[in-house]
Amino acid sequence: MQYAEITGWGKCVPPAVLSNDDLATFMDTSDEWIFSRTGIKERRICHCNFSDMAIVAARRALAAADLAPADVDLILLGSLTNDSLCPNTASIIQDAIGAVNAASIDINSACTGFLYGLHIGTSLIRTGAHKNVLVIGGEFISHYMNWAKRDVAVLFGDACGAVVIEGSDQEVGLLASKIGCEADAKYAIQITNLGSAYSRLSDDFRYVDWNFDGQEVFKRAVKSMSLACANVLEQAGLTVDDIDLVVPHQANKRILDSLAKRVGVPQEKVFVNVHKYGNTSAGTIPVALAEAVDEGRVKPGDYILTASFGAGLTWGAGLIRWGDRVKPLQKSDAELPPNDKTALEIIAPHIERYLEHAKTTK
Ligand code: UT7
Repeated sequence: MQYAEITGWGKCVPPAVLSNDDLATFMDTSDEWIFSRTGIKERRICHCNFSDMAIVAARRALAAADLAPADVDLILLGSLTNDSLCPNTASIIQDAIGAVNAASIDINSACTGFLYGLHIGTSLIRTGAHKNVLVIGGEFISHYMNWAKRDVAVLFGDACGAVVIEGSDQEVGLLASKIGCEADAKYAIQITNLGSAYSRLSDDFRYVDWNFDGQEVFKRAVKSMSLACANVLEQAGLTVDDIDLVVPHQANKRILDSLAKRVGVPQEKVFVNVHKYGNTSAGTIPVALAEAVDEGRVKPGDYILTASFGAGLTWGAGLIRWGDRVKPLQKSDAELPPNDKTALEIIAPHIERYLEHAKTTK
């Protein structure tokens, strides 16, 4: 039986920090409201292209696995904020890292993009179709934000993470997974004015917008993730007491608390970094996983439960068994291009445009 071990992990968080107090300088909100409703204190703002973050995360993951780029045979990129639709952004990453023997696929399932990618990549290794897969998840969501909409703009941030999965005879890696989609609620999270259904009908694409039913998403997120967790535990023949660490999608600390309660895991076993980065969509799980390993929260042979939900409304869960190694084999010196701007300076032109637009559409 072939398994797919996670042998490399890496993250890239851009340096510019946007605090809750920064947000309160241009919208009617407060640190108190944001922190008490979401657990978020600050988030990062990307100063370069999305692919720059993805390339750094990918190089760090490859170094941790000590895998040559030419040995990667598949790149799966989960993101909805790609550099471009054509060429697909996985191919931009492939070229930059020199993964000359890889196939490259963009996956757009929003926040679940990384988990969907891990599910697909693992399945392809287990069938023998691929050997070494690079799974990346991340987002440059600040670029698509309507900064005049306080109920959405405070929630998100930019970041990217990646893992390398390699064929193994040991029973490790993603041992069970379940993914799905509640498409009847697809418009509970909607980014409008982006895509051919809009551009076919209108000449005005300067402003994307968000329709967002936060409470509906909250309820469905807790329910779908907890059911998916129960499913993967059953598939793996484990109980919740066997779980050493939960690394869930980081959207809202209250969602994580409700999930832990419903699944029956003590909060100390739940890895949380939403206070530092907000919701980075497809980036949350690979970034959290990389931090959990680097911070010593993952031990050899640990059982890790992961779960995610996002626009679609897509959802999923996975049961990972970690391998023997918790230290990177090599360190990459990959870095983002330098940045000399504050987060507020980076997004200032967008804020101005969206605030002006909001006045004209009131
Ligand atoms: O990865 C998938 C992405 N989706 C999500 O993560 C969404 C999940 N949902 C949530 O996280 C929560 O529903 C929210 C954080 C979005 C909202 O929390 P809530 O406790 O459900 O708040 P609410 O929607 O009931 O809003 C309460 C009040 C409203 O005012 P009124 O109508 O009671 O006067 C809002 O207008 O809070 C107001 N409000 C704000 N006030 C200050 C909404 N956004 C803000 C804000 N600052 N940023």
